[in-house]
Parts: sequence; C-alpha cells; structure tokens
Amino acid sequence: MKLNYQWKGPDDFRCWGPYIIFGNDASREIRITWQSKFMTMHKWIKYGETEECEFKIEEDTPPRYLHSFILTDLKPDTVYYFRISRPENHIKNKVDIYNAGILIPEFIEKDGKPIYSFRTAPSYSETSNNRSISFDFCITSDIHCQDMNVADSIKRMEEYSGDIRFLTVTGDITAHGGQESAWNSFFYQLHPYIHSNKTNNIALMNIPGNHDSDHRETYAHFIHAFNNPYEDIRKGGYYYVIYGNAVFIMLDSCNAGQARGPQGLVSDDQMEWLEKTLARFAKKNYWIFICLHHEIYSTGYKNGMIKLYEMIYLDLFNEYQVDAVFYGHDHQFEVYWQSREEDWGGTHYILVGNGGNGLSNMKEMKTRDPPANYIWKEKTYIFERDGILEGNPNGARNDEVIRNAFQYGIIEETGWLYVSIDGDECEMKMIGSRNGNVFYHDKFKRTGTGKRCHKPILIKKDVD
Ligand SMILES: [Fe+2]
Ligand SMILES: [Fe+2]
Repeated sequence: MKLNYQWKGPDDFRCWGPYIIFGNDASREIRITWQSKFMTMHKWIKYGETEECEFKIEEDTPPRYLHSFILTDLKPDTVYYFRISRPENHIKNKVDIYNAGILIPEFIEKDGKPIYSFRTAPSYSETSNNRSISFDFCITSDIHCQDMNVADSIKRMEEYSGDIRFLTVTGDITAHGGQESAWNSFFYQLHPYIHSNKTNNIALMNIPGNHDSDHRETYAHFIHAFNNPYEDIRKGGYYYVIYGNAVFIMLDSCNAGQARGPQGLVSDDQMEWLEKTLARFAKKNYWIFICLHHEIYSTGYKNGMIKLYEMIYLDLFNEYQVDAVFYGHDHQFEVYWQSREEDWGGTHYILVGNGGNGLSNMKEMKTRDPPANYIWKEKTYIFERDGILEGNPNGARNDEVIRNAFQYGIIEETGWLYVSIDGDECEMKMIGSRNGNVFYHDKFKRTGTGKRCHKPILIKKDVD
C-alpha cells in the first residue's frame, strides 16, 4: 500500500519546515526542526559548508511527528547546507505516493535535492568595536494564523528588498493554540520563506501570546513547536539570543500558560532572570532589545495605559538603558520614545500589533463599555495635529505620557516593522501590507552612543 502524503490546504498542512531557530549565540548555534505527516523512529541531519553536507548526526527516537537537532560549534557569518530525514523529502517519484494532491515539487528527490541552507549570525565582541556589523530583521505581532489570513501580508514583507535574517512575532501567532489547524496555518503561510533552499531564508524568533499560551496545554504546544533556548520551560518560555551586536531578551508575559497569573507582568522568577540578563549584557557593546506580548504603553482598548506595567518595567529599563521594547496584544501600531530627555537617549516602546489580522478600530474604541480612555480622531495619530486624545477623563491615563512620549500611531493599516542595524545606528520602517507604503521611518543611535530625541524622518498622515 502506498502512503498518502497530500494535504488539502493550510488546515491540515503537517509538513512543517524545516525551520531555523537560534541558540543563545546565533553565530555558533542553530536549531533545526521539521514535522512530517507520518511518524518516524529515526532521524538524521547532514550538514556542512558545501552541498556535500559532510557532517551527519543520526539518532533513534521514540515514534514522533516532529524532530529537532541542535547544531553547535558552527562558524560565524557562514552559510551551511543541510538535508534531513523527513520521509516527504525522499519521495523518488510522484507515482510512489498514494493520490498525490498538493505536493511541493522540491520534495521529489532528484540530483541531491531537496537541500536547505541557513546562515549563522555575524561574530561579535563585548569589548571591541562592532560598528561593521549590519543585518536586517522584521518584527510584528498578533498574526493570529488561521486559514490563509496573513499570506498576502507576509508576501509584502518578502517583496521588500533587503536582507531579512529573521522574523520575530511577539505573540498571538495562532488564532488559537489549542487548534492544530492554527499551527498548520502558521507553517503553511510561512513555508515559502522559512524553509527554502535560498540562502536568505528567514529564521524564527518567537514568544508566546495569550492566544498561543494562556493555558498550560497551549503553552506546551508552543514549546513543542519552537525549540528556542529557553532558560527553564517549567517557569516560562523566556530566553535570550545574541545576534551580531544585539541581544534580544524574549519574555513570556503569559508566564508558562498560567491563565490565572497576571498577564503582561512576568513572574518573580522571570523578573529575576530579566534583571540578571540585563546586568550581564546591558551598557556594554550591544543593542538591547526586549520583546514581550503584552503592551506597556498603548492607547488600545485591552490593557492600554494601565500604570501597572510602567511601574514594573520602566525603572528597570531606564537603569539598564534599554534601546527598544517591542510588544503587541493591541492590534495597532504605535511608537513612544520614553525617557527621551536622559543623557543616554531614552527607550523606544513600540507596539507592533498590526501584524496582519484583526485591526483595532475606531468604532470599537468609541462604543466600548466602559468607554476607551482615548478616542482617535483619525486613522493615524500625530500629536502636533491631533493634540491630546479625547476620551474618558477618569480613565487610567490621559496625561503627560502621550504629550511627552508619543511619536506616531496607525490604527487602520496592517504592516511589518522592518529594522536595519548598521553598527551603532538603527533604521526602522513600518511598511503597510496593503500597498507597501512606508508609514513611519526613523533612524536613531544606540543608547549611550549619541541617541538623541528627534522627530521621525517620515510619518504618513493618511491611510489610503
Ligand atoms: Fe492579539
Ligand atoms: Fe494578545
């Protein structure tokens, strides 16, 4: 009897990846994961600097769909090629499988294919000058994968010319982490970008959101899918990655799927780890970027502008002169530049929740009960034009935070934040996914190396 390897569409796409995830040091350690439609009890990977893939690791395993390998002692800034043991990758001929439906052509084994590749991060040094290091990444949030909901948006990101090394989604990756179809949809929609045999395929650096992990069971699925270098999975899906001259501190603000825990505030254990990690890397020769799902500053209608998050995080991030904090949860885009009067330059707080599915909208903000603290007048928010936003005068915040820190906001456009690091300079562009418009564009220096408050280079006032 022949096996049926086909799938009908995103819902039952169980042939994930292979996808690339970084170890703590992305210049030396890469983690490769894939899933097959069928279980296997043996796995292997061949890899090397040429298509010959001279190294091989193999292992017997309990019966599993999903397999992962951690490759260590790699060379920095180097392209590696690899092949994997997934049965779908070794189909000799289409007639060998039962009723081949949708089948990615490169799965047919021919001339040493399919072969994949990854590139390690540039090397870095804590003490010497890292000014020659440059790389690009995209960051977004709340894509809530289901069916083909963000396929067009992702395509737009890839069309933008640049050298995207990885994609970060700060939570709510799935519409519901308890539905296998939602996970399949994520890997189906990203398949053309994360697995391919091009050298510029995109690695993943994700953290859990409430839709993915507000239950122990869905949290477990997140950990199962993404083999990140977690500090302690019993306590949360938090970890750090050094990529070139940047340290990404990835928090789990859902606290290991504890729905009853205060979402948005990390647990004591995680807070202790955060402080320790900041003490280790901050105020040295690195960019310090923090990612978490829940919003610290936002005019959104979820937890927007409650002071609690600021009370917990602001002093700590000021003490360690964090360069930027990225988060989602509210489905819109906003930029705040907090502590901007400080000598070291202040911290960007960037809400990137407009990842492609389910925008917050003005109608909802105006009609909700209790009323929103802020009511947007237009589809974009510009302080000079719109002044202090109107809304509930008794709301938690309607104060100097907006006046002093708010730079820009979009409420009616999906998009991706494109980030380019070039030594001590960072360039950010919010690219709308509908027609590729740039909505926000700015450049700033690393904290402590000349970061100074200024108006953004460009803000787009209208949404077409
Ligand atoms: Fe969300
Ligand atoms: Fe959320």
